[in-house]
Amino acid sequence: MTELTDRQKRELEYHVGHAKKNENRLDKPFDWEIIENPHRRWWNAHWQMYTYLMSCDLKNKNILVVGCGFGEDALHLARLGANVSAFDLSPDSLEIAKGLAAREGLTIDFRQMPAEKLQYPDSQFDYVLARDILHHVDIPPAIDEVVRVAKPGALFVVNEIYSHSFTDKIRRSALVEKIVYPAMLRFIYGSNKPYITKDERKLSETDVRIIRKPLRQAEFFRYFNFIVTRLLPDRIRVFAKLDQILLRVLGPAGFWVAGRVMFSARIDK
Ligand SMILES: C[S@@+](CC[C@H](N)C(=O)[O-])C[C@H]1O[C@@H](n2cnc3c(N)ncnc32)[C@H](O)[C@@H]1O
Repeated sequence: MTELTDRQKRELEYHVGHAKKNENRLDKPFDWEIIENPHRRWWNAHWQMYTYLMSCDLKNKNILVVGCGFGEDALHLARLGANVSAFDLSPDSLEIAKGLAAREGLTIDFRQMPAEKLQYPDSQFDYVLARDILHHVDIPPAIDEVVRVAKPGALFVVNEIYSHSFTDKIRRSALVEKIVYPAMLRFIYGSNKPYITKDERKLSETDVRIIRKPLRQAEFFRYFNFIVTRLLPDRIRVFAKLDQILLRVLGPAGFWVAGRVMFSARIDK
């Protein structure tokens, strides 16, 4: 691997412990429900992502999973018939992903590399999927690399935490930072020590603009999580459903208030 940046080294270090906590994934059955019944949790971005992906023609297509973590998306896409390549910076996370794929009898090309410098040749992939990874990386070089390794017209599917810079300013205010956030932590995340690395940042509207720059008009674009994951946990279904209904009513105004964005568009090159 090429010399890592300080940020990449910190991410790598953080994920040693994170992978250790998740080793027991190898002892549990893999959960396939999201591709068996993706409509079941229609209000949830992850499940909607599968409703969308399963409406695409994935069979025998080359798909790249960016920052694949423990390989959930890679396994799901391989089971749906795609030729999956997946990479992550963390060798420890990749060990778990490889173990799961082997156990489930799936062939997936897992490799270790940073998103900012990919080892794949040019114009390889029909689809690129980035879920909860772009907010961990240096966006301009990572997007240049996605564009380089994607075929012209490949579909780029992005599903990421997001906050408009104005909303983020409220989140970073002294009142929220010192009083509201610590008080809400366990309620929202179910833990006083949620999975948040030192360098990760929610995508801002500027980041989204940079990511969309090499893309054609979006084929799918939706905002998620206005109140849920901020003031209420998404496990309270009635609120999670109302939250998604509200954001659908708000439409493009989700730009100001949403906490997650998902879109897909073809890569122009
Ligand atoms: C929040 S996890 C998401 C994993 C997976 N996409 C998912 O949604 O389950 C973020 C992942 O990004 C990886 N990561 C962090 N910085 C990276 C970089 N510069 N290049 C590649 N992967 C990176 C971490 O090792 C971790 O597996």
